[in-house]
Amino acid sequence: MKDNRITAGTFHPEQDQEEYTLRPRRLEEFLGQDRLKENLGVFIQAARERQESLDHVFFSGPPGLGKTTLAGIIANELGVQFRATSAPALERPGDLAAILTTVGDKNVFFIDEIHRLKPIIEEMLYNAMEDFEIDVVMGQGPGARTIKIPLLPFTMVGATTKTGLVSGPLYSRFGITARLDFYTNEDIESIIHRSAGILKIQLEEEACRMIAFRSRGTPRVANRLLRRMRDFAQVWGDGLITGEIVVRGMSALAIDSLGLDKLDRDILKTVIENYGGGPVGSETLAISIGEAVDTLEDVYEPYLIQKGLIQRTPRGRTATRLAYEHLDVEQRGSEDQKILF
Ligand SMILES: Nc1ncnc2c1ncn2[C@@H]1O[C@H](COP(=O)(O)OP(=O)(O)O)[C@@H](O)[C@H]1O
Ligand SMILES: [Mg+2]
Repeated sequence: MKDNRITAGTFHPEQDQEEYTLRPRRLEEFLGQDRLKENLGVFIQAARERQESLDHVFFSGPPGLGKTTLAGIIANELGVQFRATSAPALERPGDLAAILTTVGDKNVFFIDEIHRLKPIIEEMLYNAMEDFEIDVVMGQGPGARTIKIPLLPFTMVGATTKTGLVSGPLYSRFGITARLDFYTNEDIESIIHRSAGILKIQLEEEACRMIAFRSRGTPRVANRLLRRMRDFAQVWGDGLITGEIVVRGMSALAIDSLGLDKLDRDILKTVIENYGGGPVGSETLAISIGEAVDTLEDVYEPYLIQKGLIQRTPRGRTATRLAYEHLDVEQRGSEDQKILF
C-alpha cells in the first residue's frame, strides 16, 4: 500500500503529528456510528461498574473508518493502559508471550491486522483470551517441557480489514464484534468541522459539503482532503477554503465528483475497456492496474461496490451501468462536474 495516497494508508503517529492530534480520545468525540458507540458505551460502563475486564472486542471494516481510534478510546474510557501491536510484528510465540506477560490488570491489548497471525501464535492467543494463561515451551529436544504462565485479566481488541480471513476459533473468542461501515455525508461533515476547529482552518459551508461528498465515507480521507484544501486555499487565496478552491483543488488532485481518484477510474476503465464490462477476476484486475490484490480488495473495491459502480459476482467483478455513465460524465469535462452539485 502506497502511504502517500489520499485514499489509502495506515496510521503512523511518528510520521503524522497532525493526524495524531485529530484522533478522538473519548467516545463522545467519536462522531457517527451511533449504534456501535452506544453499545460500546454500555459495555464499557458495565465492565467498569463490575470492576471486571471488558470482554474481548473485534472490529472489522475498510481502512480509515476508526478501528484503531476506537481501540484507543476503549482504553481511555476504561481508564487503563493501551498496548498496541500488529500481527505481522509477532514473528515467534515468544514475541506474544513477552507482551502478554507484561500487560497490566484489565488493560487493553490491541492487535491490528489480526487476520495475519501465524497459526502457532494464534493458538497461544486462544488460551490467553479464554483462560488468561499461556503455555510456554522451555528448553529444546527431549528435555523440553511446557509450563503454564498465568496472565492478568485483559481486554483483547483485534482489528482487520478482512473478516473473511479470520479463523472461526479466533473469531468466536471475541464477545463483542462490530463491523464499521462507511459514514454518511452528514457524519463526515461533522468530522470535517471538528478537524477544522482543531486545526484552526476556516472553510465555507459549501466547501465542507463538497469535501465530505468526495471523502468516500471515510474519516481518514476527509481529514487528508481537508488538509490538502487548506494548502490550496493558503497558496491560491487568503486561507479561507471556498467552494471554488475545492473545485480547483480536487481537479488538481485528479479527484472527481464522486471522490474517485485516478486509480479508481483506472479500475473502472480496465473492467469496461479491457474486459468488456466483466466479469474479471480480482487477481487479473490487480495485475492490470499494477496494485496488490489486497489493496484492490480492501481499499478500492469496498467503496466502488458501495457506490454501485462495480459488483462482485462468483465469476469476478462486473461494471454496472452507473460506472459507464460516471466515466462518460467525467470524460465530458469539468462543466458537468459542477452540475453534479
Ligand atoms: N468517528 C470518527 N470521528 C472523528 N474522527 C475519526 C473517526 N473515525 C476515524 N477518525 C479519524 O480518522 C483517522 C483514521 O482512523 P483509524 O482509527 O486510524 O482508522 P482504521 O484503524 O479503521 O484504519 C483517525 O486518525 C481519526 O482522526
Ligand atoms: Mg488502523
